[in-house]
Amino acid sequence: MARGIDVGTMNIISAEQDGNETVFVQQRNSFVEIEYSDMAEEMLSRSEVLHIRKDDSVYVVGDDALNFANIFKQETRRPMSHGILSSDESSAIPMIKLILEQVVGDPERPRERLFFSTPADPIDSDLNTLYHQKTLESLLGDMGYDPEPINEGMAVIYSELADSNFTGLGVSFGAGMTNVCLAYYAVPVMTFSIARGGDWIDEQAARATGTSVDKVTATKEDDFGLDFTTDVGGIEGALSIYYDNLLDYVIENVIAEVNEEDVEEDLDVPVVVTGGTSSPEGFADLFQDRLDDATVPFSISEVRRAEEPMYSVARGALVASRTEEAEGTPEAEADAAVEAPSAED
Ligand SMILES: Nc1ncnc2c1ncn2[C@@H]1O[C@H](COP(=O)(O)OP(=O)(O)O)[C@@H](O)[C@H]1O
Ligand SMILES: [Mg+2]
Repeated sequence: MARGIDVGTMNIISAEQDGNETVFVQQRNSFVEIEYSDMAEEMLSRSEVLHIRKDDSVYVVGDDALNFANIFKQETRRPMSHGILSSDESSAIPMIKLILEQVVGDPERPRERLFFSTPADPIDSDLNTLYHQKTLESLLGDMGYDPEPINEGMAVIYSELADSNFTGLGVSFGAGMTNVCLAYYAVPVMTFSIARGGDWIDEQAARATGTSVDKVTATKEDDFGLDFTTDVGGIEGALSIYYDNLLDYVIENVIAEVNEEDVEEDLDVPVVVTGGTSSPEGFADLFQDRLDDATVPFSISEVRRAEEPMYSVARGALVASRTEEAEGTPEAEADAAVEAPSAED
């Protein structure tokens, strides 16, 4: 058995194969601290709610955190921000450990292979991903796995671009970050991240309209679409503006990085967009539209959105684990695919 896990700022999702089906297990990467009482402890231990006690506090972790936060009038907190373990959150590590244990469970055999997603270093902030990556590696190792990091953008290529020989541009729009990978026959040609994603959109739109971030997030996740109707002055109008701005910013950085990497001129590749932030109706069309307006130094055959944007990264990490287990890497498969047509020549 092999597994993959997507460690995101907002969601932690594991993937494993069960016959023909891929099974996903998901938890919110968040927690809330409530005051300890015998009552609370008693109630929680009889429920399925994920929690731990520490000193005079009980921490409710994962999906249930939000409900408890509302009931106890507390704010939820997050172990990660901008794609990596948060340095402002002293409880980050024990909380994320509990979530990882719940989502991925025990290994089926000792040292089972587990690929976990990690972001590329962001080009627009001095955040460094090394500490984050090494910490996750040791947490998962302590759980009995043989963990291996996989770049988040590369995971998207593995899960979404098999039909184009793992060649194309994959962009994962998460909460804390956006991860970009350009791959050519499963070889990453360019990977980078930017420290903006859904959280950034929410914060900007909240500031612009004088609304709370939670209200903006709720509006965004509830049936908001990127069509051409405008809601000038309203939350949806502000969301559209910052969605537009995020996409332009991503494209601007793709162009700058491609120019720097000296990518082949006559490249013609598909683009796949994914991640929770790509959920609104019209997202792929808007991305296409913004690309058409930009001078991209390679040609783009199509822009499409992943069928299940929340699961792309976990699925890609699983593909990496399974391919390795089958004693070939996706690179080897792609090599075979390149060689096949030339053999007919
Ligand atoms: N239906 C939706 N419409 C718009 N945004 C959404 C929707 N569902 C989730 N999101 C946003 O997607 C982001 C979470 O996506 P995810 O890919 O899980 O992020 P991460 O990988 O950073 O954990 C959040 O910003 C969330 O608000
Ligand atoms: Mg993610």
